Amino acid sequence: MGHEVTLVWRDGREATIEVANGESVIDATEREGLGVPFGCLYGACGTCTGRLIEGDLVHVERPRGLKPSHRNEGYVLLCVAEPRSDCRVEVGATVQADLVPNPWK
Ligand code: FES
Repeated sequence: MGHEVTLVWRDGREATIEVANGESVIDATEREGLGVPFGCLYGACGTCTGRLIEGDLVHVERPRGLKPSHRNEGYVLLCVAEPRSDCRVEVGATVQADLVPNPWK
């Protein structure tokens, strides 16, 4: 038995998927063909950044691509994250863009 993870895109789209025990959220989104962005798949590049809205999602490997302050704000790297309860997670390329310093803002 795994957990249900509801993915929430900023355009209002939502999808709920089952993430198996021992499966990363990204692996589950790939299995379902949902097109959540990813790159390295080992927690370094930050491409798969999401933001935990609700629930318990743990990093099973060190999320090197996230600063501690971002982790405190709820950002997660979905390629090395596994749910420990049902969760809601904000996903999509614009979530990672939150973390990139923008000199024009
Ligand atoms: S895909 Fe690179 S950090 Fe997740």
